[in-house]
Amino acid sequence: MCGIVGYVGDNQAANFLLDGLAKLEYRGYDSAGIAVFDGENIRVEKSVGRLASLRDKVKDDTPVGTMGIGHTRWATHGRPCDRNSHPHTDCHGDFVIVHNGIIENYLTLKEELQAKGHEFRSETDTEVVAHLLEDVYNGDFEASVREVLRRIEGSYSLVFMSKANPDCLICSKQDNPLIIGLGEGENFVASDIPAIIAYTRRNYILNDGELAIVKKDSVWISNRQGEPVTKKVFEVTWNAEAAEKGGYEHFMLKEIHEQPKAVRDTMSARIGKDGKSIVMDELKWTSEFVNSFNKMYIIACGTAYNAGLVGKYYLEKLARIPVEIDVASEFRYRDPIIDENTLVIVVSQSGETIDTLAALKESKRLGAKTLAVTNVVGSSIAREADQVIYTWAGPEIAVASTKAYTTQIVLMFMLSLYMGELKGTIPADRVAELVGELQKLPTHVGETLEDVEPIKTFAKQYGYNDDVFYIGRSLDYHVALEGSLKLKEISYIHAEAYAAGELKHGTLALIIEGVPVIALATQKDVYEKTLSNIKEVKARDAVVIGIAAFDDTELEKYVDHVIKVPKTDELLIPILTVIPLQLLAYYAAITRGCDVDKPRNLAKSVTVE
Ligand code: AGP
Repeated sequence: MCGIVGYVGDNQAANFLLDGLAKLEYRGYDSAGIAVFDGENIRVEKSVGRLASLRDKVKDDTPVGTMGIGHTRWATHGRPCDRNSHPHTDCHGDFVIVHNGIIENYLTLKEELQAKGHEFRSETDTEVVAHLLEDVYNGDFEASVREVLRRIEGSYSLVFMSKANPDCLICSKQDNPLIIGLGEGENFVASDIPAIIAYTRRNYILNDGELAIVKKDSVWISNRQGEPVTKKVFEVTWNAEAAEKGGYEHFMLKEIHEQPKAVRDTMSARIGKDGKSIVMDELKWTSEFVNSFNKMYIIACGTAYNAGLVGKYYLEKLARIPVEIDVASEFRYRDPIIDENTLVIVVSQSGETIDTLAALKESKRLGAKTLAVTNVVGSSIAREADQVIYTWAGPEIAVASTKAYTTQIVLMFMLSLYMGELKGTIPADRVAELVGELQKLPTHVGETLEDVEPIKTFAKQYGYNDDVFYIGRSLDYHVALEGSLKLKEISYIHAEAYAAGELKHGTLALIIEGVPVIALATQKDVYEKTLSNIKEVKARDAVVIGIAAFDDTELEKYVDHVIKVPKTDELLIPILTVIPLQLLAYYAAITRGCDVDKPRNLAKSVTVE
């Protein structure tokens, strides 16, 4: 949430700041602002709404100067408006800051500073940081920033600019991401790689508590105690095009279509040379290690949680270990029962979701072994966990997660096979059979993506309905949850997913003539039962779109439309059935004229609790 950029160099800062913010808009888009220092004065420009309104505002009179900071906001404290937009300044405009996170003790600090005569202009928690810096400033920029950091509580990534210090930016972070891009005669600061990838692939990733002094030809980093820190340069392996739309109208559509490659990349290096086994070089676990777990947890939020549900099913089925699953924001407040024989798996696309990160830290504190499943190399969660396995989905920019979900499922499936092999809970020929099916998946995902026209038609037909229901049993139910989340977050249609057998315990009361029900029926052991539930909604005149396996000839007799997915093992079918649901959500949002990549009130990376 919130995107931060900074620049020091010889070029005009505003060009990079506006460009970088455009790449970070997925992190928040309530308002945007920049501050540019021309060596004497700092000019601040901000505007409520999308970055386009800020661009418009400065297009004929762009701030001039070779150092600056910028911000795109996802409002927490104070509604979106010009006044609450970042950058924020002290009383006299001598200090300018941008912030991502929440300053938890801002009210106490604000009262103290107001009593001393500081005048506040916004309702934000952030402004207090600028006034505090003004208050404690003793002529030494670094020492004064350290004093500010000592006094604030909460989570942050912060960049400070000072009129009295025209050659440097100072930045620091706690529980929110911040990277420094290393250029030639220029350096960059950003919340995330897409902002700077067109300028440099070489980065330093800041750790919590570190402070960096960024000048045009040097970057000096120190720890909380002020001792110098030597950092390894982190080279980004993907290029600028990977973070562009590449001819698609929206990032979401591009990312949906990238799934064959994302699945292939996540899978390939982990399949044994014999094509029949799983290799997890990142883990190198032994049977003894895997047998030491008597319980596992999967912890995640949103789509990653929905993928985790499928993961739980796989781990229990294939590795025969009991798995509990929890949304991260609930987990740590319920006094979880964890010890050194517990393996906690956290799943997160961004690797920065603060609820998941906090749950991970709590699990470690309680003595669990921890494993991260994430898409972002070097992210906070990747660094915090004992071990990490990456989904190689490439950058996911659209707020609605798609390729991260399918690759998380692929990876958890592979992990389950790997653990099952080590535990001896799956016969080798079954492993070989499943690995064989796995290798066909990228092709099947591609085939599933070919059949878009009927989905576009359904989206037009039903896109104006107020309510949509998703039903399924077993794995189908988990996919239904993801389908309904996709629909509500980007099309704003009220969508709910139910375990099909649960409908009659209350929700069936909502099924009336014409209500669309998306019914998934791919799991053989519950097929007949699901069919009965479908008949129940049909009997109430719902319009039913069925999602079926390739060889199903039964479902079409009971529903209004059927979408079939290619042949694969029943266990892997969620990776295919979710695709029509992603496309349905996408085209429903288009039908309703919604901003697909930037849905209202949401942001890609949720770094506030
Ligand atoms: C998905 O479409 C969402 N926008 C959201 O639920 C997301 O999956 C969740 O915030 C978790 O993010 P993470 O995977 O980056 O931790």
